[in-house]
Amino acid sequence: MNPAPFDDSHPATPPLLITIDGPAGAGKTTVSRLLAEQLKYRYLDTGALYRSVAYSILVNDIDFEDDEALAAHLKEFDLTSRPDNNGFRLFWKDRDITDQIRTPEISMMASAVSAKPAVRSFLLGMQREMGKAKALVCEGRDMGTVIFPEADIKFFLDADPHVRACRRYKEMPSKAAVTLEDISRDMLQRDQNDSQRALSPLKPADDAIRIDCTDIDPQTVVKLMMACIVRMLKAKNQ
Ligand code: DC
Repeated sequence: MNPAPFDDSHPATPPLLITIDGPAGAGKTTVSRLLAEQLKYRYLDTGALYRSVAYSILVNDIDFEDDEALAAHLKEFDLTSRPDNNGFRLFWKDRDITDQIRTPEISMMASAVSAKPAVRSFLLGMQREMGKAKALVCEGRDMGTVIFPEADIKFFLDADPHVRACRRYKEMPSKAAVTLEDISRDMLQRDQNDSQRALSPLKPADDAIRIDCTDIDPQTVVKLMMACIVRMLKAKNQ
């Protein structure tokens, strides 16, 4: 029997695993949410996982350069997520940390701890488990290269660094505490950390579709992605 034809008004058939990688501020989160909403898929923000680990390390004052201390901390790491209107809320030891993990300090810390092999292998299992059922849009740095190399379709979203910094600046809850220059400097530092680390560096998968969204809004990016998905499904069904 032929699979049901793809139709924009219905969830894609069969369920797909869609990855979106790219640097900070490229708009991955907005685009992933919109795409997941349109497809009626789940959405996974893997940056939030690294941020949660960073937050717990900071609060517990763990020396993450000490491999034993880091391993012991990860063993006890207890993270849960609950859906809400805007996606999901994250709880660490039953404490809602959804908003606390969005500070510039946690951004830098997440980038630093994400280079640690123990952290990456700890989160790898968690992410693969979440991808098992497919019908998922997941975003991060290594979704298409390391976590889900077998994904049905992979995107790499990028934009001009100044535009990315401006977007992040606009998202900041308290603009008084942080300047555009601060954000821009931190972002470039993170780009460098994330793309030059030895383990799972930020880079497009060989088979990723690259989209430069410097001059296009998230809705247009989603339209482009949907067109790619339709084309891919049609090619598969031929
Ligand atoms: O996407 P984000 O800005 O919330 O991610 C925070 C940091 O987490 C990022 O600087 C690098 C790390 N990260 C990672 O190494 N791999 C991922 N798949 C997602 C995030």
